[in-house]
Amino acid sequence: MKIAIIDDSESSLSLMSELVLGLRDVEAVTFPSSLAALMWLGQNPVDLVIVDYLMPSLNGLGFLELFRRDPNQTAIPIIMVTSSDSKDVRYMALQLGATDFLTKPIDPVEFTARVSNTLDAYQAHKALADKSAWLASEVARATERLVEREREALLFLGRTAEHRDPETGRHLTRMSTYSWLIALSLGLPAEQANRIKVASPLHDVGKVAIPDHILLKPGKLTPEEFAIMKGHAQHGANILAGSQSPLLQLACEIALSHHEWFDGSGYPNGLKGDDIPLSGRIVAVADVFDALTTTRPYKKAWSFDDAYDHLRDGAGSHFDPTCLAAFGAVLSDIHDVYDAHRD
Ligand SMILES: [Fe+2]
Ligand SMILES: [Fe+2]
Repeated sequence: MKIAIIDDSESSLSLMSELVLGLRDVEAVTFPSSLAALMWLGQNPVDLVIVDYLMPSLNGLGFLELFRRDPNQTAIPIIMVTSSDSKDVRYMALQLGATDFLTKPIDPVEFTARVSNTLDAYQAHKALADKSAWLASEVARATERLVEREREALLFLGRTAEHRDPETGRHLTRMSTYSWLIALSLGLPAEQANRIKVASPLHDVGKVAIPDHILLKPGKLTPEEFAIMKGHAQHGANILAGSQSPLLQLACEIALSHHEWFDGSGYPNGLKGDDIPLSGRIVAVADVFDALTTTRPYKKAWSFDDAYDHLRDGAGSHFDPTCLAAFGAVLSDIHDVYDAHRD
């Protein structure tokens, strides 16, 4: 451990450093002036400072005040040595952050015991601080693992749904990446945009509850069949409901709201405008855009530009104009995703 000793009297300095060096594992650095000490201490960490009160130019109190101003030096113990019995000086020193006092002339036994106790207390304080830093990093790591598992659970659920859904994994990759781009373009925090990216592939998980003759029908659905098909939004929400996980809660919200229309003519609840969760309004744009630009059993793929025109025709009716504008603002990124993940 390193101790800085500051005293303008050379004999005091050598006595104190001699006593300190008698302790185990201790190194002493001595300074004849507090200004020189302050400069050195700004660059070099120590475990204890012993400072004389009566010194020319900057006395012990002045030193204390400047030293404690440095946010890195608030915990380091300081023992002030004073020949004055004046209580005022001691009170002021305490206010400025002194840890303990010693009086001159120095009593070697008392001096050694005080220094040793102060060092022990500081060691214990540092060990505790290290331990809480270690604990904090352990908690952070455990939380990260939990989040990772949550993502895995979502992925597995998504894969399960994929086995019944004629829509491909590529659709899910593209629509979730489009959703993420729209969310970022809207100015949502990165964390929220990432959550939308991870949760949105589950938007159609409710299709597992739709009978095959409807889900896999190559032709146009009859009105009755379409009514059953529409049930996938509520089925998905039922599957994902009741979770403590914010990610699953978001997935549930998206499953329920991705077929709502901005003008209130969508399903299942006919929500209008801002009553539709933002996540649902974002995913609606991404999902429809990808459906249009890919081949489905009942239709050919539209060109990128035709699909974008169609989205714009639906601004204010099907789609939230703000989400569409956000989509338009990152159109070249959307195009990159469209190119990179073609079927
Ligand atoms: Fe859907
Ligand atoms: Fe979809």
